[in-house]
Amino acid sequence: MKVATIVGARPQFIKLAPLSQKLRLKGKEVLIHTGQHYDYEMSRVFFDELGIPLPDYHLEVGSDSHAVQTGKMLIKIEEVLVKEKPDVVLVYGDTNSTLAGALVTAKLNIPIGHVEAGLRSFDRTMPEEINRVVSDHLSSFCFAPTQTAVDNLKEEGIENGVYLTGDVMYDAALNAIEIARGKSKILAQLGIKEKEYLLVTLHRAGNTDIFNNLASIVDALGDLNEQVIFPVHPRTRKALADSGLLSKLEDNPHLKIMTPVGYFDFLLLEYQAKKILTDSGGIQKEAYFFKVPCITLRENTEWVETVEDGWNILVGTNKDLIHQAVSGFNPDSHQRDVFGDGKASEKIVEILVDF
Ligand code: UD1
Ligand code: UDP
Repeated sequence: MKVATIVGARPQFIKLAPLSQKLRLKGKEVLIHTGQHYDYEMSRVFFDELGIPLPDYHLEVGSDSHAVQTGKMLIKIEEVLVKEKPDVVLVYGDTNSTLAGALVTAKLNIPIGHVEAGLRSFDRTMPEEINRVVSDHLSSFCFAPTQTAVDNLKEEGIENGVYLTGDVMYDAALNAIEIARGKSKILAQLGIKEKEYLLVTLHRAGNTDIFNNLASIVDALGDLNEQVIFPVHPRTRKALADSGLLSKLEDNPHLKIMTPVGYFDFLLLEYQAKKILTDSGGIQKEAYFFKVPCITLRENTEWVETVEDGWNILVGTNKDLIHQAVSGFNPDSHQRDVFGDGKASEKIVEILVDF
């Protein structure tokens, strides 16, 4: 079995790690990195920390508008797939790398496996929603992390080739948190204590590119009487700098503004946080895995189970709602077993081997 795997953005390296390890025991994997993310702390750090083999092809596409970035990926991915002739191509999640990989593969009549299929926010203003819908409809194998994802696919008429496998990010987090707890010194390095700080991340286009939304979040963070740790995504740093808001955060003694951190340090920061404020998909899940209350800076989420189970609250960008959640959102409810048993990667590999 020869599998070509296409990744390009931070969360995809994390999803890839457990699956790639299992896959390479059963067949050959050709790893293609589109180059969508390229800063050391957005890309290479995950290969180094998680022992992911370096990519066989690095397409170095970099940042640009959606059309230019996706277009460059289409051209370069096609060249590789024509040369390598894989039996199946794996794409992950919902980025432009996912969309480009799925489109090229479908046109070459090669079966696609979509890891993290079936997620929906039902918000087509999000680029991710467009990428997911198209990728799912082109895929031969939809590896769904949750029952909700299976149901979403069914609603769109996709029933063949749908497999409820559990979530590969759960596999990854279960493996890594034990290492992180033994190895990471991030709390001491930052001079913070467990359960005495809030962890913040932000990068969705709807929050970074709309000035009023970004300004409202910055205002809310600035007025919190709490220690805030904020590893800033490069997209957000650029938006904050361009809009003159960065210094407002940097000058505030309660806020620690820093570049993104590695996976082990980040997991430990999540695990020991009092609460997490984020618009990230993966981080909403990790907060749930670690039973840390999550305040989501969005109006909707794909990970509805985290809200249904009471561990995630959607507050958007409204300052009052953010403050109310920081002071009053204190879940302790029972969690269902929604993200599988930590063996999603094994299940996906078994399905591919049978095929
Ligand atoms: C992308 C995905 C998003 C995912 C996120 C994970 C799309 C449309 N979006 O968003 O779904 O949640 O990755 O983090 O695919 N930049 C750097 N260095 C880097 C990478 C990016 O400086 O290594 C800056 C550039 O200014 C770039 C901007 O960040 O223009 C946005 O990067 P891009 O990959 O286009 O989108 P993300 O916001 O990272
Ligand atoms: N992450 C990390 N360092 C950071 C911030 C996030 O390692 O400074 C990890 C986090 O643990 C999670 C993933 O990156 O596994 C989430 O990626 P991101 O928020 O960029 O994307 P999304 O999940 O929203 O697509």
